Amino acid sequence: TGRKVIHLEVGEPDFEPPELVKTSLKEALDLGYSKYSESAGIADLREKIANHLNEIQNTNVSSDQVIVTPGARFAIVLSVLSRIQRGDEVIILDPSYPAYTDIVRESGGRTIRVPTFLENDWIPNMDLVESRINESTKMMILNSPSNPTGKVLTRSTLQSLVDLAIEHDIQILSDEVYSRFTSAKHPSVLEFPECSQVFVDSFSKTYRMSGYRIGYAVSDVSSIQRMTQLQNIFLTSIPEFIQYAGLNALDCKEDVERYAATIRQRRDHMCKLLRDLPLSFCQPDGGFYIFSKLETEKFDGVQFSEKLLEEQGVSVVPGIAYGSDYSRFFRISVCQPEKDLIKAAGCIKEVLQ
Ligand SMILES: Cc1ncc(COP(=O)(O)O)c(C=O)c1O
Repeated sequence: TGRKVIHLEVGEPDFEPPELVKTSLKEALDLGYSKYSESAGIADLREKIANHLNEIQNTNVSSDQVIVTPGARFAIVLSVLSRIQRGDEVIILDPSYPAYTDIVRESGGRTIRVPTFLENDWIPNMDLVESRINESTKMMILNSPSNPTGKVLTRSTLQSLVDLAIEHDIQILSDEVYSRFTSAKHPSVLEFPECSQVFVDSFSKTYRMSGYRIGYAVSDVSSIQRMTQLQNIFLTSIPEFIQYAGLNALDCKEDVERYAATIRQRRDHMCKLLRDLPLSFCQPDGGFYIFSKLETEKFDGVQFSEKLLEEQGVSVVPGIAYGSDYSRFFRISVCQPEKDLIKAAGCIKEVLQ
């Protein structure tokens, strides 16, 4: 119909990448950085990532514990493929980023999806998690801040999950791609070096470099070597000029602060606009999303999303995409300008009336 759709389904803000990232990418091409590179990533970048983490997380990561990957998604693929064999089980806390289930399935593993609930502030129930662990459990995937709920796991919750993982010899895969978009200091799994872990982060969200496809994983040296072998088989290496842009991105601290402040303001504003509607949700601690439950019997999340798109031109994601317990939910992102968010909130209100 040619109508302009407000896209609240996407996890990609309307910002531009930092100016330095764009100029350094052009510079890299002029400098001829277009050859094959080391499969784990160029040495300067691995070193700089390690230093960056040691600075912000107070850790002691060395560069041989880092692999640079084409996005966090591929870091997750490599960690799952290098660890999980047919019949192994992987615990995922729902609602969850759908890629986890897809990736585990492709590896031949089984996903054990443990629900968390809005009524409990999305805090995982440790007894429930423990009850799903058995001899086949090899990995537990955590995502804090969460896509879709925005929940940040507190240090004590993380401690309990780490204790369980150590007790049952389970590796934790911690996807922390939204860590820079939090309202308060975010506890990282990196603060628990005693536990077998893969930490995953990305340039996509922090530096608005989604289309560049660059992220990384941090783990023990032998896990990183195994992941590097796989990356070599699949890709040889990732583009040298993109890594050079990534190297410069790590210096763009002011841009990151500006992005984070903008997202926080939009998130708070949108929550305020949705508060008065027949919806329930937890105020997100971080991330790009608000995950709301429909407090009406008129429709479920899928029907609501279809109606909202057809009648109002606002696109959202039905909750069922994040787990079977969330058929009454939908997810909106706050990646669009505030004026569009205000308009979209009006449209949501209209459909709910
Ligand atoms: C939780 C989570 N992890 C990973 C990714 C993928 O990030 P990347 O672009 O680095 O592959 C996303 C993207 O939406 C995400 O929401």
